[in-house]
Amino acid sequence: MPSNATFETPDVRYFEQWSRTYERSWMQRFLFNRVHLAALDLAASLPAPASVLDVGCGTGRLLRAAAARWPDARLIGVDPAQGMVDIAVALTPGATIHRALAQSLPLPDASVDLVFSTMSFHHWRDHVGGVREIARVLRPGGHFILVDFAPPRGMAWLAGHEGAPRASARQRVFTAAGLRVERQRRVVYPFLLATIAAAQA
Ligand SMILES: C[S@@+](CC[C@H](N)C(=O)[O-])C[C@H]1O[C@@H](n2cnc3c(N)ncnc32)[C@H](O)[C@@H]1O
Repeated sequence: MPSNATFETPDVRYFEQWSRTYERSWMQRFLFNRVHLAALDLAASLPAPASVLDVGCGTGRLLRAAAARWPDARLIGVDPAQGMVDIAVALTPGATIHRALAQSLPLPDASVDLVFSTMSFHHWRDHVGGVREIARVLRPGGHFILVDFAPPRGMAWLAGHEGAPRASARQRVFTAAGLRVERQRRVVYPFLLATIAAAQA
């Protein structure tokens, strides 16, 4: 069991604070809900998953939307902010929620069919380490759908997230982690990029 110190980064502290009001934020309507719908729509072309993992699940909203789409799927969420985890547990009955970082997923090898991560990647300190963990827990042929900031050149000021890897850098991270990028496309807003990648079959 990791100690609290493991999770003590400024980003995680920020989300601890925000967790109390996160569900009521205006950003749900204008950003997060739209991103979740886009991620689920991208998954519609894939085989129906028996298990779904959301990495950086926040309060569990995407998992609840996934439950509506795949009522029989096993749902798992991980998030390092305890406040987010507590709310996700309370609002998402039937899901298993862990307090964990992407870089250290508490799940067995080859145990998940479909992994999502939305609006979380730019907060990870170790992008390759996180995606490598996702590659480890994916079943052969399983998919990872990531949606996050990746501002085109000249638009970083709009997104305000200079640290988010751009499209080509993101592709290199996935390849280094052992995933095969199937496609990347802009979703919802011009500064958001979706990547769909597969684990080696
Ligand atoms: C903007 S919120 C997005 C939450 C949710 N995915 C959504 O779309 O509403 C970012 C989340 O990423 C989590 N996070 C930050 N660093 C992380 C890491 N290294 N691994 C996994 N999650 C992380 C935060 O605790 C926070 O809940």
